[in-house]
Amino acid sequence: MAQGAEGRKAQPDHLGHVIFITAAAAMGGFLFGYDSSVINGAVEGIRHKYDIGSAALAQVIAIALIGCAIGAATAGRIADRIGRIRVMQISATLFTISAVGSALPFALWDLAFWRVLGGIAIGMASVIGPAYIAEVSPPAYRGRLGSFQQAAIVVGIAVSQLVNWGILNMADGDQRGKVLGIEAWQLMLGVMVVPAVLYGLLSFAIPESPRFLISVGKIDKAKAVLADVEGKGVDLDGRVAEIEHAMHSEQKSTFKDLLGGKAGFLPIVWVGIGLSVFQQLVGINVAFYYSATLWQSVGIDPSDSFLYSFTTSIINIVGTVIAMIFVDRVGRKPLAIVGSAGMAISLALEAWAFSSQAGDGSLPTAQGTVALIAAHAFVLFFALSWGVVVWVFLGEMFPNRIRAAALGVAAAAQWVANWAITASFPSLSDWNLSGTYIIYTVFAVLSIPFVLKYVKETKGKALEEMG
Ligand code: GLC
Repeated sequence: MAQGAEGRKAQPDHLGHVIFITAAAAMGGFLFGYDSSVINGAVEGIRHKYDIGSAALAQVIAIALIGCAIGAATAGRIADRIGRIRVMQISATLFTISAVGSALPFALWDLAFWRVLGGIAIGMASVIGPAYIAEVSPPAYRGRLGSFQQAAIVVGIAVSQLVNWGILNMADGDQRGKVLGIEAWQLMLGVMVVPAVLYGLLSFAIPESPRFLISVGKIDKAKAVLADVEGKGVDLDGRVAEIEHAMHSEQKSTFKDLLGGKAGFLPIVWVGIGLSVFQQLVGINVAFYYSATLWQSVGIDPSDSFLYSFTTSIINIVGTVIAMIFVDRVGRKPLAIVGSAGMAISLALEAWAFSSQAGDGSLPTAQGTVALIAAHAFVLFFALSWGVVVWVFLGEMFPNRIRAAALGVAAAAQWVANWAITASFPSLSDWNLSGTYIIYTVFAVLSIPFVLKYVKETKGKALEEMG
């Protein structure tokens, strides 16, 4: 019953509005990137302030990721009950409170508490952005619009690095130096209030998802939104019937709806979990969270490490733009395969380079150069593939009736995998850095048969055709 999606191209005047709506929703992605990376600039200040060792510090940092998993797991169900926009508003409120609380903690446990709260906000934003964007996008542009989420994440990471660098300079290079009456690291965490409040305000300027409106019987409102985002030429009654059919033929999405068969979850839910987990197991966040270690082993002065981390971020942005151009043209699967192959080669080169690491951690010049180039190539290949493709897939691959809940489960699995990789890296690298990269290489290689065998292309299909 679904009409050919390619024939439903939005008219350009609507597209402008759809882009605004998408960008506003993607502010959650910006906060996701900003908040998860801002802590890197603040860790030394926190360590000195509370006089704690690396292990305790790592716990304070990693604990936020647990909050992310909780936020991701719950956001979908809340969104099905009270709407997508309300979830954005809850997330924006939590971000704001967490920014103020983390900037002004009275004890270490208090800081950890606010970071968990911020984590919940990130987790919610990580689910609601892709779900909402997929639901308001015309099919022909859905991949490109869906990639706004990842674009916002990578810009958020880059901006947090720049802001941290600016604040650190104001504090003469000392994270505990005073800026505007508080210590530099506190200001770094507090600055997030600005995008958090903006996110909250923008959420009032965008419409509720037509699929949610239909699910609560607000058909006229849903039609108005559909006319706006899909273009006036679209048969509105037909679209509403199509969406209603896809939704009401089944009950509302609950955790139970995700279960089925011997394997626990429905197969499609496992595919979503697999995509999420592979995205993390290639070690992408090691490249972001622990980059200073890498720069130092190739002989870069610690004071220049900001510059190199920032070049990684720029490459991350460039790769994301490449993916945005191609995701609706060549499709999601080919991008993922090219990315996996490129990442596997780059990671294998890093493993080779680090196999000749000296006792003090340094590398011979040739290997150092290879490691540096391979590290950047790895981020480029990730960004033009799995970075964008996974968030786009998660937003669109599930049938309407289970989308929000399934996306939540897959995203929660991603946060747990992120935590496992980032928390295990320090011990793994003490054991053997080259061996660590071999592990990530193996995951990059395995992701290729996984995509070929289990993942279905979603390019150009209506959401009602997924299932
Ligand atoms: C993706 C990942 C996230 C990572 C980012 C890096 O959004 O989900 O964990 O930090 O890409 O660009």
